[in-house]
Amino acid sequence: MQMEQRKKIEPVIQCDNLCKTFRTPGGDQEVIRNISLDVQENEFVVLFGPGQCGKTTFLNMIAGLEKSTAGTVTVSRKCVTEPGPQRGVVFQSVALFPWLTTMGNVEYGLKMAGVKKEERQKRAQKYIDLVGLQGFENTFPVELSGGMKQRVGIARAYCIEPEVMLLDEPFGALDAQTRYLMQEELERIWQTAKRTVVFVTNNIEEALYLADRIIVLSPCPCSIVKEFEIDLPRPRNYTSQEFLHLRKEIDATINSST
Ligand SMILES: Nc1ncnc2c1ncn2[C@@H]1O[C@H](COP(=O)(O)OP(=O)(O)OP(=O)(O)O)[C@@H](O)[C@H]1O
Ligand SMILES: [Mg+2]
Repeated sequence: MQMEQRKKIEPVIQCDNLCKTFRTPGGDQEVIRNISLDVQENEFVVLFGPGQCGKTTFLNMIAGLEKSTAGTVTVSRKCVTEPGPQRGVVFQSVALFPWLTTMGNVEYGLKMAGVKKEERQKRAQKYIDLVGLQGFENTFPVELSGGMKQRVGIARAYCIEPEVMLLDEPFGALDAQTRYLMQEELERIWQTAKRTVVFVTNNIEEALYLADRIIVLSPCPCSIVKEFEIDLPRPRNYTSQEFLHLRKEIDATINSST
């Protein structure tokens, strides 16, 4: 019984005293200062911080795209040293392959992993359907809207069936209306295909709409200022009293820390 309980609460992601200093010809720049963070299985954690504070650098260290100067990241007990299929990434700039169709982009990771065509297209189709892009399988990125491109990015990350999804301001470049829609869509996708998620944003409404837990980050060098457990029922209402109350509380935290 005790073993069982311990197993259940072991975090999927463990960041332990992470630090990052970029060494450039112009001098050293400390960007991440001593961040420790645990993320539980299927938890939706939002990293919320101001522009240029080091959010992408932090997420890239979890992805294995950036090496830490000190400290460690483990995902499911494996030390992260390079990118891998355990972690799906949706980038801040969509970064689709322009010469590949929706299907080509979504199945790309499986192709690289040597999965046979029939099987990988079947799996890609499942995620294309999940993100609501059925009918656009043979469309190239240039013909897709910003929101649709992000859907392809999400399907592509999901298609390798990673344990962890890392999303770096995926809706930052969208107009307000599309952004709301995509927040609702991501919530639906996550409810349908639960994953452990780390999602980066500098938009407080977006953070409150999506998060089980919001980690408030300081300006650069980035460290954790405060955490908020968000236990509002889902799907959330942007204008409910509880939502607005939490928004005020988090705003107050930010204003007193900057
Ligand atoms: N490869 C690099 N070499 C040197 N400095 C870097 C490198 N990558 C990032 N930086 C610096 O680290 C700081 C944080 O950058 P980062 O992109 O992590 O912040 P961010 O919070 O994601 O910014 P944004 O809000 O614009 O997305 C910036 O000052 C940036 O110039
Ligand atoms: Mg960034």
